[in-house]
Amino acid sequence: MGKDSTRNAPEHVAIIMDGNGRWAQARGKPRLFGHHAGAKRVREILEACPEQGVKYLTIFAFSTENWKRTQTEVSGLMKLFKRYLTHETKALVEAGVCVRFIGDRIRLDENLVALMDELELLTCHNTKVNLTVALNYGGRDEVARATKRLAREVAAGKIDPESVDAETLARFLDTYVLPDPDLVIRTSGEARISNFLLWQSAYSEYEFIDTLWPDFTRDEFARVLAGYTNRERRFGAVPG
Ligand code: FPP
Repeated sequence: MGKDSTRNAPEHVAIIMDGNGRWAQARGKPRLFGHHAGAKRVREILEACPEQGVKYLTIFAFSTENWKRTQTEVSGLMKLFKRYLTHETKALVEAGVCVRFIGDRIRLDENLVALMDELELLTCHNTKVNLTVALNYGGRDEVARATKRLAREVAAGKIDPESVDAETLARFLDTYVLPDPDLVIRTSGEARISNFLLWQSAYSEYEFIDTLWPDFTRDEFARVLAGYTNRERRFGAVPG
């Protein structure tokens, strides 16, 4: 397809990758089997981004609520993240992917945080596509942490409280360098936001898809993006 196919592509797509557990259970396998299958899809969807005109892909890998899962699942996921970051480094660097992490690192294992820091550093000059991984991320937690940092600046006399507006707070969010998502996709048939990018998705389009994340192919991704380009976004204005 030519240039026109990407003319109205969403610049920033965010994905809630849901359904790994059900996908595995349907096959009589442990839930972690589904997470491993899900990790393979991350690479496929990321690879599809440049050809689809998507500059930013943000994925919800682990929420602040996911700690409530069994110890086996949580530690299996943490191991999977470490393995993924280690094994994918070379491919991500070569593919021109700039990787960032959002979420609170305080509760994460120090070896995992070291891998995250290293990957951010190694890929920070890449410009082909931006991958943001939300790890120990919650939208409310992010706004609370941002507010705390902003309050410190106010207390230190560096910011006049009267000058604080939405744009001021946005500068303290984990996502301060990213544009807001144009499109948020959630797989597995659940129609919830689940504390993902609450502030940033104020004007995003939502697409809830029945497919379980490990079955979400590059072709289906292309179909969802094509559907997006046919919709009109008004940002609160009346139709023109
Ligand atoms: C939701 O499915 C999925 C997660 C909480 C984990 C997402 C993680 C991956 C896709 C692994 C790969 C990520 C990276 C960054 C390599 P679920 O377990 O809630 O599924 P269910 O609703 O069917 O139980």
